[in-house]
Amino acid sequence: MKVIVLNGSPKGDLSVTLQYARYLEKVNPQHRFTYENIALQVKHLENDPAAFNAIIDRVRQSDIVLWAFPLYVLSVHGNYKRFIELISERGVKDAFAGKYTATLSTSIHFYDHTAHNYMHAVCDDLDMKYVDYFSADMNDLHNEEYRRQLTLFGQRLFSAVQNNTPVQKQYLPLQKRDFIYQPGNTSSALPADGRKIVILHDSKDPESNLAHMVSRVQDRFGGNVTVVNINELNIKGDCLGCLVCGSANHCFYEGKDDYIEFYRNTVMTAEILVYAGSIVDRQLSARWKTFFDRIFFNSHQPTLQKKQVFLLVSGPIGQIPNLQEIMSAFFEFQGANYLGYISDESGTSADIDALIDQKAADALEAFANGYLRPETFLGQGGMKIFRDDIYGRLRTIFMADHKAYKRLGFYKTFPQNDFGIMMLNTFAAPLVNIPAIRAKFDERIKEEMVKPLQRVVEKTLA
Ligand SMILES: Cc1cc2nc3c(=O)[nH]c(=O)nc-3n(C[C@H](O)[C@H](O)[C@H](O)COP(=O)(O)O)c2cc1C
Repeated sequence: MKVIVLNGSPKGDLSVTLQYARYLEKVNPQHRFTYENIALQVKHLENDPAAFNAIIDRVRQSDIVLWAFPLYVLSVHGNYKRFIELISERGVKDAFAGKYTATLSTSIHFYDHTAHNYMHAVCDDLDMKYVDYFSADMNDLHNEEYRRQLTLFGQRLFSAVQNNTPVQKQYLPLQKRDFIYQPGNTSSALPADGRKIVILHDSKDPESNLAHMVSRVQDRFGGNVTVVNINELNIKGDCLGCLVCGSANHCFYEGKDDYIEFYRNTVMTAEILVYAGSIVDRQLSARWKTFFDRIFFNSHQPTLQKKQVFLLVSGPIGQIPNLQEIMSAFFEFQGANYLGYISDESGTSADIDALIDQKAADALEAFANGYLRPETFLGQGGMKIFRDDIYGRLRTIFMADHKAYKRLGFYKTFPQNDFGIMMLNTFAAPLVNIPAIRAKFDERIKEEMVKPLQRVVEKTLA
């Protein structure tokens, strides 16, 4: 069988992920593998239709398409996404339709599932036959049992083709409505009291719904806001995955384009942030993805602490829970208070006006009150992965994160650093778990657990 591996790493042949695909090739010498460094050369593919078509022809000639990619900021790299957009823009979906496919990633398991969900949905949209995903930690290949599992994953894929195995579509096509949003008269501008408000968008058409949503929110804030079209921002290139930023947060692009200065001086100093974009396939645009990827010069530190954030979205985000999760997780991890999104996917223009007006008021009020919801599992779980990895195996490379985590007190949440918990576990735990004592304890556990909280409520004044 012919397998085409579409490599989503900007590092090309030096990709970690690629080694996992090469391992599959080694243990399956009866099949023929070819490799395309998609993320590395997407600009070339975009500018040279012949080069793009040559890859598409090789896809046509293959029995299996293996999407092999590293995790980049909760999803795939912006360049990989751009390639996926080009498939639709250039009308070559038919090259993928009906092919058996699977996704293979490496990462540190921080939102690897949202990347696979995204790619699975893309495959379903391309009418491919999606067999399975394999999400490896970047070091799993060293482990014999993981290599065995990877081999089984490969076998599943080949036997699906051999047996023409039926597969279930997991993501049904998005229902898009044909709707023109026309904002009405602006309701009274809010007293923004000198708040620093920044709106970022990627609208390409001033008459689009997105552009109108942006001007509505801008007017609502009294026009006293910074509005930036990220298409016009001087971004010289995509994140290279070079990790130069790991030691002291200096990016390869420093002094070469405007992104870093812009992010530090405009985004990180804002108090209220509005991100506005349109749905392109199952996410925002590749341009937005590149914008998010480039944030990595801060490596894994929260850059949006205490900011009030909301989204304006043109398109059916309500049908894409995976994107909603990516957005909630990203902003929680960044330390922001995420107030959700307004989209044009339902309601009349007047309804959307009212929602935008209300969201702007909510953001100002939340900022004034210092409202910051506790993080859910999305932020808490994510941060624990990084806390452990930066303290441990990633510290050598990400020294800047290590210093920041110490400064921000992130390591104080290690249970072994909490004196009270250490005492409890050392002295109380063995005692309480003596069967006779434990039996007594269990009788009272509900009352004892709630008692301290009841005292807080009782002491609270009306
Ligand atoms: C800019 C950047 C963003 C990343 N984002 C994530 C992420 O969101 N989740 C994760 O688990 N790993 C993330 N990683 C780690 C990579 O996915 C991991 O190191 C992978 O093995 C790299 O594979 P590659 O050499 O094929 O590019 C990120 C790495 C970089 C450089």
